[in-house]
Amino acid sequence: MKDVYILGIESSCDETSFSIVKNGVEEISTVISTQIDIHKKYGGVVPEIASRAHIKNITFVLEECLEKAKLKIEDIDAIAVTYGPGLIGSLLVGVECAKTLAFLYDKPLIPVHHISGHIYANNLVKRLEFPLIALVISGGHTELIYMERDYSFKKLGGTLDDAVGECYDKVAKVLGLEYPGGPKVDKLASLGKITYNLPIPLNDDSYNFSFSGLKSAVINLVHTEKVRGNEIRKEDLCATFQDVVIKSLTKKTMKAIEEYKVKNLILAGGVAANSGIRNKFQELASSMNINYTFPSIKYATDNAAMIASSGYYAYKEGRRADLTLNALSSTELK
Ligand code: KG4
Ligand code: ZN
Repeated sequence: MKDVYILGIESSCDETSFSIVKNGVEEISTVISTQIDIHKKYGGVVPEIASRAHIKNITFVLEECLEKAKLKIEDIDAIAVTYGPGLIGSLLVGVECAKTLAFLYDKPLIPVHHISGHIYANNLVKRLEFPLIALVISGGHTELIYMERDYSFKKLGGTLDDAVGECYDKVAKVLGLEYPGGPKVDKLASLGKITYNLPIPLNDDSYNFSFSGLKSAVINLVHTEKVRGNEIRKEDLCATFQDVVIKSLTKKTMKAIEEYKVKNLILAGGVAANSGIRNKFQELASSMNINYTFPSIKYATDNAAMIASSGYYAYKEGRRADLTLNALSSTELK
């Protein structure tokens, strides 16, 4: 069978990325240009600045990706692009670039949902095995998804308010840690002890999550301690916070594994880079005899390799977009 090369484009938030992936599993080259240093001083991503930075970077990142792969656009079989969800101005830059390339070089255009990209980041580690449960945890999403085969997504539940990554970043901010705070909270948590008291959010039998109450509980605790003149033990607060997050995520995920009788679990999204979360799931998966995969750190956060991998299976399914493809800031995974 002829090899299929997909060019992936990702620009939904603050990373401009291109990647070429062969047959959905073999990464040929990936370039990620992150804007973290630009947004750091504002304590979070500023959408208008993000879209301008994408415009400035996009052609350079594309050129570097092709150069690294020693390929030309003529060698590519199809162009896959994140069309949503994400920041509308950022998404538009990638979508317009993809449409231009598809038109100029007469290539099929494949629309890829950002979450499916995060899920397929695991396909670059090990070919997905089905049926599976995917726990998607990122700065914008917290979702439990059941997949019977490639490109069949059944959402079991999701967050009712904040995403788990957003909660990590807010907790980091109140502790005076730099954006993006998730990795810093992770590091401190590994050094601390569970000594504070925080509630487990939405501790019910549904597959939904809630993190805004937990975020408020941490903010209130920090303010109360300050007023009382007590010093915050950052390591211990991070350890306590992370423990509560892990309890919430593992309880619902393990319930889904049992109810859907699956033998495969994958983690996806930026928060899947969290060492505490990875390790706890590893422990549980081993005790339940479940195959467990998580993306490599590089492919946990936003990148185009995951979009190219997902795009390969969308391509095989015959999914195509025409030049009317538009960016969508919010859209369901289908
Ligand atoms: O997937 P991603 O790059 O963007 C979205 O699609 O939202 O995820 C970014 C999020 C940020 O909130 C960041 O703080 C979080 O992932 N993150 C982490 C860790 N590494 C990244 N959160 C907790 N622990 C980490 N090690
Ligand atoms: Zn993402």
